[in-house]
Amino acid sequence: RAGLADLVESMLRTVPDFPEPGVQFRDIMPLLADGDAFARVVTALAGHPHGPVDLVAGMEARGFLLAAPVAVALGAGVVPVRKAGKLPGLVASQSYALEYGSASVEIQPSTVPAGARVLVIDDVLATGGTAAATVELLESCGATVVGLSFLVELGALDGRALLPGRDVDVLLTLP
Ligand code: PRP
Ligand code: HPA
Repeated sequence: RAGLADLVESMLRTVPDFPEPGVQFRDIMPLLADGDAFARVVTALAGHPHGPVDLVAGMEARGFLLAAPVAVALGAGVVPVRKAGKLPGLVASQSYALEYGSASVEIQPSTVPAGARVLVIDDVLATGGTAAATVELLESCGATVVGLSFLVELGALDGRALLPGRDVDVLLTLP
C-alpha cells in the first residue's frame, strides 16, 4: 500500500463550484482512466482483510466502477445499489436525508441471500448518508456488512459518524 494515498491524491482533479457554487468537487475520473493507477487501487481495495466476502455492493454510479473489479478480484458477486426507480421487480428501499429533502437507494433483495457477507464500495465518503442507508438496506435483507471501502474520504464532513463500529477502509483522507 506504500505510496497509494499519494498516488490517489496526485490523480484526483478538484473542480471548483461543481455541481453547485461553493462545492469543491473531487473528480476521480483521471485516476480511473489510468490503467496502472486503476489496477493499483482495485488491488488495494480487494486486499483489505475482511474475511470471506460473498458479494460486493457498489453505489450508483461511480461505486459501480470500483465494485465490479473488486468483486472479480475477490471471487465474489456484485450487487448494484441504485437510486430509486431504476431496478425492476421486487426492491428494498431505504431513504436518507440530504441537505434539502431526501433521497433513497434500492436493491433487489432476491440477489442478497440472508447471511451473505457483503463488502460495500464507493468512490467518495462525504456526509455518509449514502453509505449508512446502504448498510441499513443490506442488513434489512439479512446480510452482514463486513466493511466499507472508499477511494477518498472528505474528512470535514465526518461521514464516519454515521458508520459507528464499522470497518471503514479509505485509501486517501482529505481534510
Ligand atoms: C456521490 C458519491 C457517493 C455519494 C457520497 O454520488 O459517489 O455515492 O455521493 O455522498 P454522501 O456521503 O454525502 O452520501 P452521487 O450522488 O454524486 O452520484 P453519482 O455517482 O451517480 O454521480
Ligand atoms: N466528489 C465526488 N463525489 C462526491 C463528492 C466529491 O467531491 N462530494 C460528494 N460526493
